[in-house]
Amino acid sequence: MNSFEKNRLPHMVFGEGTAKQAGAKFKAMGCSKCLVVTDKGVMEVGLVDPIVESLKKEGIDYVIYDKTLPNPPDYICIEVAKLLTDETCDCTLAIGGGSSIDTAKAANLIANIPDEIKDLHDYSALGTKMKPQFNRTAKFICIPTTSGTGAEVTGSAVIHDTKRNLKYSFANENQIADVVIIDPELTYGMPPRATATVGLDALSHAIEVVVGTMQHDFAAPIALDAIDRIRRWLPIVYKDPANKEARAQMAYPADMAESTGGAANGHAVAHAIGSKYNLVHGHSCIMVMPTLIRHQANTAPEGIRRLADIFSVPTIGTNEEVAGYVADAVLDFYKSFGFTTCKEAIKASGFDDDKKTFVENLIPAILDDYKSQLFMPPIHRPEDRQMLVKVCEMIYDEE
Ligand SMILES: [Fe+2]
Repeated sequence: MNSFEKNRLPHMVFGEGTAKQAGAKFKAMGCSKCLVVTDKGVMEVGLVDPIVESLKKEGIDYVIYDKTLPNPPDYICIEVAKLLTDETCDCTLAIGGGSSIDTAKAANLIANIPDEIKDLHDYSALGTKMKPQFNRTAKFICIPTTSGTGAEVTGSAVIHDTKRNLKYSFANENQIADVVIIDPELTYGMPPRATATVGLDALSHAIEVVVGTMQHDFAAPIALDAIDRIRRWLPIVYKDPANKEARAQMAYPADMAESTGGAANGHAVAHAIGSKYNLVHGHSCIMVMPTLIRHQANTAPEGIRRLADIFSVPTIGTNEEVAGYVADAVLDFYKSFGFTTCKEAIKASGFDDDKKTFVENLIPAILDDYKSQLFMPPIHRPEDRQMLVKVCEMIYDEE
């Protein structure tokens, strides 16, 4: 049995209409002024107004910052931290997808990092200045409006370093929210393609928990349940976006997967493909998963047999055979939502790279990704290059 260490989880509220509890939750924590962190799209579709009403109802003053951007740039996180301090807010409310949530998480911590910040990268998970005693003073509630990233339950934020043009993890357990409110009503308006994209991201997190190198016995049962829910309910919500039960079922697995482990080395490869070939995160993640499953055939055979049960493919055969059945089932699953395999996807993105060029392009970007350095085994040892070439070739050849 593998050793493991589990971070604490936030207090969680789940259910239709629960987003309106935000005001009462802050009031119970003794808060008086809130910084609401969101983006223009979420504001425009009216998701913020009823939640802000709940703040007003409880007599909590508020300021709204609605300029968060995808792939949160470092300077925005610093700007939001400054606003939190200048407006003397004692609580933060993130409403949105992973970008707004990560911006708020980082800003909460930056507001209490003592030095004048010259370079936020120095405080990253791989930097030299991050200290466990750095804490946020603002109380913090996260309300996700998509069902996929699971960012609301983790203690890390993915930041875009605008000087170095790379993504890194700004990680500290003190970033973990006090309360997460998962209200499926907020996802009712998501179009089918966006729903599938984030759903496949959640599926990728859960698959990485089960077959990845960080697999452990606390996480696997929860991740397997998440995979089962996604397999059953994503096709339903994709065809019938108004199906409330399907929306509720899909609002939950993202947190199940991320709160137990989630993105690791599979994401390091997916980040590299996504940034090199301009593919959306959920698409680049899911196209890596069949290869990850085949590659881990003899490392995670038990987990792969459990996946075979869930995807209703044969569990009898060699480890490689069963991994092959499961990998093919995952391929068919994501293709059923109109997502293409690697070769087709990069072509549609305007690249005609052959296999050799694809591999040569990808390896430096994978080694640059923070996750390839963070997770065990790290993929930076001399013997790793050969393994990486094989993995990249397999991803390119998946059909
Ligand atoms: Fe992800």
